[in-house]
This record gives sequence, C-alpha cells and structure tokens, in this order.
Amino acid sequence: MTTSTPLTQDELKALVGQAALRYIVPGDIVGVGTGSTVNKFIDALATVKDQVRGAVSSSVASTERLRTIGIPVLDANEVEQLGVYIDGADEIDGQGHMVKGGGAALTREKIVAALARQFVCIADESKLVETLGRFPLPVEVIPMATAHVVRRFAALGGQATLRLKDGQPLVTDNGQHILDVTGLSITDPLALESQINQWPGVVTVGIFAHQKAQVCLLGTAQGVKTLNF
Ligand code: 5RP
Repeated sequence: MTTSTPLTQDELKALVGQAALRYIVPGDIVGVGTGSTVNKFIDALATVKDQVRGAVSSSVASTERLRTIGIPVLDANEVEQLGVYIDGADEIDGQGHMVKGGGAALTREKIVAALARQFVCIADESKLVETLGRFPLPVEVIPMATAHVVRRFAALGGQATLRLKDGQPLVTDNGQHILDVTGLSITDPLALESQINQWPGVVTVGIFAHQKAQVCLLGTAQGVKTLNF
C-alpha cells in the first residue's frame, strides 16, 4: 500500500506559482503581484525569464525580487495595457471576488490589475470561501482620516484596527496606513467596495470585486484546479 503525505501550504503555493507560467505569452510584459504565493511565481518566472520583456510590479518587495532574477521592472506609467496580472489573494469567492491587502500592497495591486486584460489569481485552497469577510478587510487610509474611517466602519458593525509593525503604525509603499476590519460579512462585494471607496481619506479598500479575477489557479490536494469566472 502506498501512502502519500499531503502537500504543505508552501508546496501548494509553489504548484500554483508554476502553473501560472502558462498564462504568459512570449514577449509579454507581465503584471506581478505581491506575497508569498507570488514569490513562488517569481521563482518559476526565473526559469523562463528570457521569454518575458519585463514586468510591472505591485510593490517594492516584488520589484526587488524581480530585479534580482534579472527581469526589467517598468514603471506603470510606461505601459498602456498588460496581457495578464498574476497575484495572490487573502480570500476568493466562487465568483472571483477577492479580499486582498494582507501584505499591505493593495493600492498598487489594484492599479496594476487595472492595466491588465486578465487577472489570474494564484492561491492555495484555504483561500476559497463562500462569503468574503472572515479575513480582516485591509483598507489603506490617509493617516489624518483614520479615526473618521474607524467610526464609519463601526456604524456598519465592523471593528477597524490600525495595523502595526514593530509597535508603530505600518507605513505602506505609498506612505499611508492600513486598517484591518473584522466583523463584516461581505454579501455584496461590489456594493460595499463602491460604498467604502466614497469615504474621504480611504485610498483603497481591499475588496477586489470591480476588478475581480477572471481565473483562479487553486492549489488543492488533488493538484491545481482552474476556476474560470
Ligand atoms: C498582498 C496581497 C496578497 O496577495 C495576499 O496577502 C496573499 O498573500 P500570500 O500569497 O502571502 O498568502 O494582497 O497585499
């Protein structure tokens, strides 16, 4: 009898990172997200780096990794359109709506995603949920608006907490702060994204519904499942 050990979360991330390579057309400039799953994708990209013209990156961290493997990183303003944007998610539902921003890169992620014709989400199966909202919702805010935005969330039944790093407010790549909001059940992601986007001082809300994924490569015990939305 043969017994196989289940793949670790790290191995599932490597599997989907590798699988994402098939969405790259030779000569492409690729949109690259941020996070531990994307790091696996960047590792895989290193093996085909001669086939890509460059990348547009969603964070300082990913830019450094891409440059280390020898992929030129272009400014988003130099590129009109990308064929594909590849990124992870903190949660994804059955329609391709996501919660993102666990790595504090949500604003640049939304910008790069907006340039792409196709968003390919790479995630291990722990990220697939029925309803968004279990993972605390990241929201990038301008620091002087923090208390006001916290009160707005409280009025919706949410508890917003300022994200800290080494005991100090975390400062994003854009020089702003992050609130993490618990207690929300995101039953209408499109409407809630639109609503929060209107609040003064909100830079970006981590609901990606208007810019949802078209494809999710989900790492499961049975291998990579492709979900099309
Ligand atoms: C960063 C993100 C990431 O995509 C998200 O946090 C998932 O990260 P990981 O792949 O490490 O689980 O939105 O801002």
